[in-house]
Amino acid sequence: MANKKILVTGGTGFIGSHTVVELQQNGYDVIIVDNLSNSSIDVLDYIAKISGIMPAFEQFDLADGKLTAGFFNRNNNIDGIIHFAAFKAVGESMAKPLDYYRNNLQSLINLLEGMKTHAISNMVFSSSCTVYGQPDELPVTEKAPIKPAWSPYGNTKQMCEEILRFVTHSHPVHAIALRYFNPIGAHDSALIGELPLGVPNNLVPFITQTAIGKRECLSVFGNDYNTSDGTAVRDYIHVVDIAKAHVIAVERMLGGRSKSELEIFNLGTGTGYSVLDVINSFERVSGEKLNYKIVPRRPGDVEMVWADTRFANDELGWKAEKSLDEMMSSAWKWEKALVTRPV
Ligand code: UD1
Repeated sequence: MANKKILVTGGTGFIGSHTVVELQQNGYDVIIVDNLSNSSIDVLDYIAKISGIMPAFEQFDLADGKLTAGFFNRNNNIDGIIHFAAFKAVGESMAKPLDYYRNNLQSLINLLEGMKTHAISNMVFSSSCTVYGQPDELPVTEKAPIKPAWSPYGNTKQMCEEILRFVTHSHPVHAIALRYFNPIGAHDSALIGELPLGVPNNLVPFITQTAIGKRECLSVFGNDYNTSDGTAVRDYIHVVDIAKAHVIAVERMLGGRSKSELEIFNLGTGTGYSVLDVINSFERVSGEKLNYKIVPRRPGDVEMVWADTRFANDELGWKAEKSLDEMMSSAWKWEKALVTRPV
């Protein structure tokens, strides 16, 4: 029997590339669509180095309805879709809200149109714990109320989940939305990882770039939170654990084991770590001393959030396996590998 074929949108990005590798290693054929707006074509070669298989690839913008329809006309043998392609920078979304709404909503709508026309019945959607805002209760379960969004980026994740709720209800389409907490780390091979353009917004790439000498000093945003050491707390999770959950979600849908049209799962470890915990872990595994200073809070940051992972553990049979130290040592190995890599 032919392998199942999965369209991975945004498959050259951070989480996308790791997921492509896991899919290939589990016997799936992958076709990537990416406009390369925040990733590089070279990622394809690195994926092939890890898995031994070059994924099929098309470069175009999924927000373009005509191009997306044309893609589905040429590729009428797709069994399922994992949809990562989206803009994801919180700060940028405040400055360019319309770009975020246009890109993130239109891409999803165009894909759903293609699914309807070509009877593709399964999608895994890339969502975020940002939909919870600052939850009233911790750990946060999937049943926690959706709070008013703090950014257009977060709002697009909420709106996309709503679109999926109604479309899966009216059309023979199933979806699984995976709400990621804070994905960090890199593949053990150090061939793929996070490649932020310009100055990183996220904590871990900023830490590794500071340690390698690309940045002067890490700013720790606030030490006056109501947490154990005063710095904000997040549920950091290894990107390979996240990638594996996508393979399980695809298998669940293709195997007809979904229990409702739209299922939603938290992807976290269930443990919260403070910014200083993350820095300490980095210093421990790398043997480097990190240059950092405490500065005022970053506007829009929540105080603390971590996942209740029981639903994902029980229903998906998935559990995050990698420790914070493993996340930090893989991130550091990746940063060091970039130094010797042709750009
Ligand atoms: C944000 C988004 C999340 C998104 C993720 C990845 C929100 C509320 N969160 O998560 O939806 O999926 O980015 O793009 O919209 N920090 C520092 N110094 C830095 C950078 C970060 O102290 O230079 C701190 C932050 O204040 C925070 C923690 O590190 O407490 C993690 O920050 P970051 O990596 O940016 O992720 P989030 O803001 O949690």
